[in-house]
Amino acid sequence: MTTPKRRIPSAGPSITEAEIRLVTEAVRYGWYEKRNMHMDQFIKEFSEYTGAKYVLPVVNCTSAIHLALLALGIKPGNEIIVPDVTWAASACPIHYMNATPIFVDIDRQNWCISPESFEKAITTRTKAVIPVDLYGNMPDMDHIREIADDHDIPVIEDAAEALGAKYNGRQAGTLGDIGVYSFNATKLAMAGQGGALVTDNHDLFDKCKQLRHHGMVEYSKKMFWCEDIGYNYQWTNIQAALALAQLRRIEELVAMKRQAFHWYTDRLGAVEDLQFNSEAPNVRNTYWIVNAIMGKRYHTTKEQVIEEFQRNGIDSRPFFYPISSMPAYTRYVKGKNMAKANPVCYDISPRGISFPAAATLTEEEADFVCDVFVHYLKHKK
Ligand SMILES: Cc1ncc(COP(=O)(O)O)c(C=O)c1O
Repeated sequence: MTTPKRRIPSAGPSITEAEIRLVTEAVRYGWYEKRNMHMDQFIKEFSEYTGAKYVLPVVNCTSAIHLALLALGIKPGNEIIVPDVTWAASACPIHYMNATPIFVDIDRQNWCISPESFEKAITTRTKAVIPVDLYGNMPDMDHIREIADDHDIPVIEDAAEALGAKYNGRQAGTLGDIGVYSFNATKLAMAGQGGALVTDNHDLFDKCKQLRHHGMVEYSKKMFWCEDIGYNYQWTNIQAALALAQLRRIEELVAMKRQAFHWYTDRLGAVEDLQFNSEAPNVRNTYWIVNAIMGKRYHTTKEQVIEEFQRNGIDSRPFFYPISSMPAYTRYVKGKNMAKANPVCYDISPRGISFPAAATLTEEEADFVCDVFVHYLKHKK
């Protein structure tokens, strides 16, 4: 086992001269009449890449979900269906709206929302569903859309983790009525912080755009004229420059993630009873983060594995906890046995470990991570 030269980070970007050049250009020239030069270019190229008609850059993806719910006219007491295993940011904007998140189960193979569990949770109060493209994978969107359309439920596709993924050849984020992306520093393409909302619906886009900047209306003859109480969810041109440079390298970045997946699975594929990220034939998974669900035979938890990795100079992350299990959200599941309601979430989450996934991960580092992991598992059987 060769000890790596650095502490292995759990996440982080790939920065080249291309990013440095565009950000420098933005800082130097992106002011006055050129204050939106990179933002406008980002919008154009993001629309070309995703195929979405309208693109709205925002300060982060959480605010994009919030704007989507506002534009859909969500009211207090409405129910919004969301998978129980995802990052909390998929659900907290529902709370901002005084609406109620309804946490449903995930599919055992793709780890995204289970269509059956979604359908079972629909009531007359259901006003939206937020399928999440978890860890760069895609849910069974044909089935989700069919159920949503049958019940007239708008779909907000949370593609925060899945820019570059594809479903039947279509880009992740473009399969719902509204799609949202994140460019935070851990993401495949990043800007430090940032987000984007896409839609083909002009009315929804217009509403989101207005609310993004204090409810000001563009078509008004008066400046600083607000027709709504909105938010300050504006992004900056400097961040757009960084995201633009990353977007231009997107296929290279996807290839790096897919390579890392193969480094891990080539080394761990023969280890008994581990389940890795899946990829259905009609999907391109970006493998934003490679995860392994350890079989029960190993008698260990994800927290113990994280500690063992830490002792060896490796930073890793837990597979997301069920949101319904966290103190902040138990208010929404009072009196319910969520482990029974969402058995897959509660079964696999405690046994799921997210391997280091920085874009700068090397094959030697992946090798070391796998050696430490295999050595640890041997003593846990
Ligand atoms: C599934 C999911 N949804 C939403 C978000 C929120 O993104 P942001 O950090 O840009 O607000 C994240 C980010 O971590 C995420 O992973």
